Amino acid sequence: MQDGFGRKIDYLRISVTDRCNFRCQYCMSENMTFMPKSELLTLEEITLIAERFIGHGIRKIRLTGGEPLVRRDMSDVIQRLGRKVESGDLEELTLTTNGSLLREYADHLAQHHVARINVSMDTLDPDRFSEITRGARVEQVLDGISAAKEAGIQVKINMVALRDFNQADLLPMAEYCAEQGHDLTVIETMPLGDTGSDRKLEHISAEEFIAPLANNYEIKPIAHRSSGPAKYAAVDPLGLRLGMITPLSNNFCDGCNRLRLTTDGKIFMCLGHNAHVDLRGAVRNEGIEAVDRLLQKALKLKPLRHEFNAQLDGSAEKLERHMNVTGG
Ligand code: GTP
Ligand code: 5AD
Ligand code: SF4
Repeated sequence: MQDGFGRKIDYLRISVTDRCNFRCQYCMSENMTFMPKSELLTLEEITLIAERFIGHGIRKIRLTGGEPLVRRDMSDVIQRLGRKVESGDLEELTLTTNGSLLREYADHLAQHHVARINVSMDTLDPDRFSEITRGARVEQVLDGISAAKEAGIQVKINMVALRDFNQADLLPMAEYCAEQGHDLTVIETMPLGDTGSDRKLEHISAEEFIAPLANNYEIKPIAHRSSGPAKYAAVDPLGLRLGMITPLSNNFCDGCNRLRLTTDGKIFMCLGHNAHVDLRGAVRNEGIEAVDRLLQKALKLKPLRHEFNAQLDGSAEKLERHMNVTGG
C-alpha cells in the first residue's frame, strides 16, 4: 500500500478500547466519557478487518488502547492475531500497555508470539507516579514488567517528557532500564484533546529533557530502528539504548508508515488530523469487502504531516480527540 505522497504503509495500530484503568494527566482529562459498548467493534470484526488489512500489505500490528489489556476478550484478540505471526503473514504483533495487568497476561502474550512490548512509565518515584496517573501504583507496573521479562518478552519503556515534572527522574529511569536490559524512549508530549493542563508549559524538547543524561554519559546516535518514529542513541558506558520521539522538535512524518483503527471502527490517517473513514457501518451493511474500497479512499486522505507545533502556539485549530481514542 502507498499513500498519496508515495509513502509505503505497512503498519497498523489498533486501539481495542478507549478505556483505561489509569488517567494520565497528559492523555486524559479527569472526567472522561468513553464510547458506549454498543459502538465498539466486536472481537470478530477486529480480527476480520485486521486480516483484510494484512491482505493489503500490513506487516506489523500494534495493539493499543486506552489500556488494551482491560478489554474483556483481549486474550482472544491476541490469540487470533498471534496466529498470523505463526503463519508468517505478519512480521510482528506488539502491544503498548500501561503495564498494570501484565502479571496476568505476560505468559499468554509470549505464548501467542508477542515478542516485545512497550510499557508507559514516566517516573519510578511512587508519589510522582501516582500524581501523573491520578492514582495508580508504580509497584504494580514494575511487577508487571518483571512478569513480561520472566516470560521472555522484550520491554521498552515509554517516558513522556514533561517540563518541571519528571526530568529529575530520567537518570534513575535510565539506570533501571540499563540494569534490566530494557530500551528507554523519551517522548515529546503532543497536544491532543483538552486535559485541563497547559500543553505549551508542559512541553520540553527531547534534547533539553535528556541533558541530565548527556551531562553524565556519552550519547552517540546509532542506526537501530524499531517500527515507529523513534531515533536511537547508545548511552555509554551505561549500556542503555535510548530512543527519542520528537514530533515537535524534529518532524518525522516523511517516513510515516502507519494507519490507525479505532475501537469504533474508524481508520484515522494521522495522529494529528481528523481525516478518517468509517468502516464499521460499511462492514455491517456491505460485508467485509467494504474494507477494500474504504482503504483506498483512506490512503488518499492521508495528510503529509501533523500540525502539532501550530496547535501548540494557537495558530491552528486544536484537536478535540484525546490520545486514548487512537492509542498514540
Ligand atoms: P515501536 O517503534 O514499534 O517500538 O513503537 P512506537 O514507539 O511507534 O509505539 P508506541 O505505541 O510505544 O508509541 C510511542 C509514542 O510515539 C506515543 O506517544 C505515540 O503517540 C507516538 N507515536 C507513534 N506513532 C506515531 C506517529 O505516527 N506520529 C506521531 N506524531 N507520534 C507517534
Ligand atoms: N503525548 C505524547 N505521548 C502520549 N501518550 C499518551 N498521551 C500522550 C501525549 N499527549 C503516550 C503514552 C503511551 C503511548 C501510547 O502514548 O504514554 O506510552
Ligand atoms: Fe504519520 Fe501523522 Fe504521525 Fe506524522 S503525525 S508520523 S503523518 S501519523
